[in-house]
Amino acid sequence: MQSPIQAYLDGLHAQLARMQGGEVANYIPELTKADPSWFSICLVTMDGAVYSTGDSAQKFTIQSISKPFVYATALADRGVKFVAGKVGVEPSGDAFNSISLDPKTGAPLNPMINAGAIATASLVAGATPEAQWQRIVDSMGTFVGRDLDIDEDVYRSESDTGFRNRAIAWMLKNFGIIDGEPMASLENYFRQCSILVDCRDLAFMAATLANGGVHPLTGRRALPLEHVERVLSVMATCGMYDFAGSWVYEVGMPAKSGVGGGIIAVLPGRFGIGVFSPPLDPKGNSVRGIEVCRHLSRDFDLHVFSRAGDPSMALGRIYTADQAPSKRQPSPQMRRYLNDNAHRIKYLCLHGFLAVDGIEYVIRRMIEMAADSSSFILDMHQVDGISESAARLLNDARLRFAGENIAVVFSRIHRRHAIKHFLSTTSPKNDRGYLSFEDNDLAVEWCENHLLGDLAMPTPDPIALVDCPLLRGLPPELLAQVDKAATVQCYRQDESILTTGQAGDGRVFFIADGHVSILVPLKNGAHQRITTLGPGMSFGEMALLGQTTRSATVVADGEVRCWVLEANDIDRLARDAPTLRIVLLENISRDMAEKLRRATQWIAALA
Ligand code: DON
Repeated sequence: MQSPIQAYLDGLHAQLARMQGGEVANYIPELTKADPSWFSICLVTMDGAVYSTGDSAQKFTIQSISKPFVYATALADRGVKFVAGKVGVEPSGDAFNSISLDPKTGAPLNPMINAGAIATASLVAGATPEAQWQRIVDSMGTFVGRDLDIDEDVYRSESDTGFRNRAIAWMLKNFGIIDGEPMASLENYFRQCSILVDCRDLAFMAATLANGGVHPLTGRRALPLEHVERVLSVMATCGMYDFAGSWVYEVGMPAKSGVGGGIIAVLPGRFGIGVFSPPLDPKGNSVRGIEVCRHLSRDFDLHVFSRAGDPSMALGRIYTADQAPSKRQPSPQMRRYLNDNAHRIKYLCLHGFLAVDGIEYVIRRMIEMAADSSSFILDMHQVDGISESAARLLNDARLRFAGENIAVVFSRIHRRHAIKHFLSTTSPKNDRGYLSFEDNDLAVEWCENHLLGDLAMPTPDPIALVDCPLLRGLPPELLAQVDKAATVQCYRQDESILTTGQAGDGRVFFIADGHVSILVPLKNGAHQRITTLGPGMSFGEMALLGQTTRSATVVADGEVRCWVLEANDIDRLARDAPTLRIVLLENISRDMAEKLRRATQWIAALA
């Protein structure tokens, strides 16, 4: 099944691919060769799942997106204090190539503008410029998760025409920001900008930062954790240069753009995003890239000042209906089928506030299990709430699964209107709405019926009293006497047959037609169904053990016909035939053992 997240990205790509406007960078001649129609989007999760669309394999030069990663490397190599003495962390509000230096110290205002980046390229570890270059390309490779190369043509093209940057480098030397040979550092800067990446690489670089400095797939640490927030802070305030204010206001994600057409955006602890499309706006940012991030932020509630959490915490226990079947007494044929297939019904216990990242994780796990599933029960008992975007994705997934005859139902939403509201208002027009059950027992019974199909509604064969399991093993002449002593009682739908706490009157009931639910009262006034009984089953038999009050309420689920045996009739018959009581007690014990086994199953599953 296609993930709704993938479907959303495909749709967004199709919508924005039609966008015109912007110009491919031309001040570095080689960059003019880029195709303005190139366009890709990639999103990577904290456990390395990749969603990508468009020209995601198209390579391009990383340009300024390299800057936060070289800054990170300088922090790791030289420490915060030393680097802070060379490069500030203040937004300049100027263009990326402005010569924004501190008037007193000559230090560049921040590491995202060219001046700051050229300075940080000189700060990474290495006794020689060659060693420093190796350090830069190795460090970048750890963020990407593979070895990197540069585009020699772009490098040569920029080195031959980068006069403004040469002037900046000499000024940095003049102010003692660059200690060594400034042109060597500048060449390393040109090389870092010429590193070849694709959109997936960008998303993994962003995801590594989002993941506390650890690459989600390789597991290698690219940056000590204590520096991650420093890099993200500078990206948030300076990453988009003189568009930084609008960016934080409208998109709200630490980001970095490059004149090659790339943009990365980072959602700490949630996602890494990469976008690529060469046409740039006058500030040097990808026109389509900006729009993609605006949409993602709005549609997925990704603004960094909105809620966040560990996505996998959205999903707690997963167990199956063969561990926790419904409490009804299925027919032997149904039981045989359920014994072999109930594992295809999955319970997923959801937790906390469900945002897009959490729901993405839940949906992905459901997709992974889909091949061996007929239905999913989303237990909402411990869910605090759900964002509109997450509810929309969940409804989308529910309909997609329905298209594959996999049911997604909810249980235990109870009266939480905020959850019901978003699940209802984000249901697509053509949707009949979601199914929600008060408790898991009702939910799993529905799912069993969904699994059983025609088997679920067997037309129960007529059962004679003498064939009821509770009377199994009685000799024929005794059965005939019991049959004669029994009376017939009929009940209407929802009629209470027995009530919890009611004085025991010694009657034992055998169901001839219809179904009854056995209920126990809950503190909140509701009732929990313990089981459903059908033809041939009996209830009230505890009266035979001298029970004084009824332990449960029994309600007719529809029209019900019962045979009723009075305890004193049974006593009378047993006086002449002690076998009767022995056989009854043996059958009751066997039935109780089965009920105890099923109860133990449930308790184990819920433990
Ligand atoms: O130094 C330059 O001008 C380029 N190598 C990088 C500039 C850049 O990517 C600006 N970001 N939007």
